[in-house]
Amino acid sequence: MHVPNYQEAKKRERVVFDIQKFVFDDSLKNLGKGKKYFVKTYGCQMNEHDSENIQAILEKLGFEEASDYLHSDLILLNTCSIRENAHNKAFGMLGRIQHLKEENPNILVGFCGCMAQEEGVIQALKKKYPFVNFVFGTHNLYDLPNVLASAIESKKQEIEVLAKEEKMMEDIPVKRASKHKAYVNIIYGCDKFCTYCIVPYTRGSQRSRKKEDILREVEELVHDGYQEVTLLGQNVNAYGKDLEGNYRMENLLEDVAQTGIPRVRFMTSHPWDFTDQMIDVIAKYKNIMPAIHLPVQSGSTRILKRMGRRYTKDEYLTLFSKMRERIPNVSISTDIIVGFPGETEEDFQETLDLVETCQFDNAFSFVFSKREGTPACKLEDNTTEEEKNERLYRLNEKLNAGFLKSNQKLVGKTLKVLVDGKNSTKKTSLYGYTEGNKMINFDGDESLIGKIIDVKVVDAKTWSLDGEVVCQKN
Ligand code: SAH
Ligand code: SF4
Ligand code: F3S
Repeated sequence: MHVPNYQEAKKRERVVFDIQKFVFDDSLKNLGKGKKYFVKTYGCQMNEHDSENIQAILEKLGFEEASDYLHSDLILLNTCSIRENAHNKAFGMLGRIQHLKEENPNILVGFCGCMAQEEGVIQALKKKYPFVNFVFGTHNLYDLPNVLASAIESKKQEIEVLAKEEKMMEDIPVKRASKHKAYVNIIYGCDKFCTYCIVPYTRGSQRSRKKEDILREVEELVHDGYQEVTLLGQNVNAYGKDLEGNYRMENLLEDVAQTGIPRVRFMTSHPWDFTDQMIDVIAKYKNIMPAIHLPVQSGSTRILKRMGRRYTKDEYLTLFSKMRERIPNVSISTDIIVGFPGETEEDFQETLDLVETCQFDNAFSFVFSKREGTPACKLEDNTTEEEKNERLYRLNEKLNAGFLKSNQKLVGKTLKVLVDGKNSTKKTSLYGYTEGNKMINFDGDESLIGKIIDVKVVDAKTWSLDGEVVCQKN
């Protein structure tokens, strides 16, 4: 048994990580024969992509995908630690699974992802949830076959979580959720240590993948007819800084654009290391989408300092204006936290001012959530929950007004849209995304799914657009 350790997780040492290729132990290929699996994913795109790897590994073991957790022989929760409610959701699900397991003790239950890297969660799994059969962490996802096989053999709770990353694994099999858009990891972990955030503890040190491995993956996707890649990392702008040489995010973006993939996206960008060269490359290539997720977190320089964000309100605004000036039709989205310990009404007003100035195209807003083990957890916090929720409400009103305004500007324009899929609940039959990452609903034939087509915007809503397909010339 290996368990997480925060003291270890916090350490940052310059090490060259051993890069290995995933090897599948063929003797395990019938482990799941005749059985069904269900993976429930919480959290960010990185977790979603990890689940794509997990699913492919489970299928190599002989399992087949179930339509829901009620009809599966193996249920695996891929969890997120970012806020309290993510925790609550995963524990709530474990409660439901417990009932199922009382009726059918043969169901196998697994737990992985960021929560598995938390000391407190592992203690809870041992004491309160002994029915969970196996646990692995974010650093040893590739070890799933062995952990599962040991759990089945020993009939005991198997916990294998590495406190720190040990190696980088290439060629992990992947079952992609989409046939036309794909996630590609470019950098793992995070060294920023924003004072509120748990990610540097659950995901470990910043580690860039080698450019050759990334480009090979993108080239394969181009070959397979993919229309879009999203380059993933907690802070993609730091790409390459941990490797030898001067190859950085701007170089990688340029090389990925030159593979000819029709659409390149990337996320998330930290404002602190967003370079002018990156802006130039985004502006230069038509296939790098003009959509930047640039979390600001707060509009108060005083609070930004307490958050450890390394930029001031003015520096953010300068970068923001530069992007708007130099990248044609750029769409900029953000993340904002309200109720950070010590945030006063004046600080919050500064956030509202910044939102008014920027008119973001999209945003995610959150109430600060205390994360065990982070520095902000120990800060004095005098703002009541009621006040925090009220601030969130006021912030959302302002953000929403901005989204609507930015969407209204698009009415009458014809935009390139990657048709993503069928609408099950809406009046129109299809939906897709514009280059600026706006969701657009429209009627059309199913055969358009996976294609990039022209759609004219006819109406604007707060979170989406309505459109009409423009006759396609062949
Ligand atoms: N790496 C990305 C963000 C990852 S987490 C970045 O640095 O921008 C996604 C968002 O969750 C963050 O941008 C932040 O707004 C929010 N978040 C992170 N920790 C939080 C906490 N403790 N409470 C509330 N929101 C938090
Ligand atoms: Fe968390 Fe900050 Fe790293 Fe983003 S940059 S993952 S907010 S520590
Ligand atoms: Fe959550 Fe881990 Fe992503 S904490 S947001 S799943 S990196």
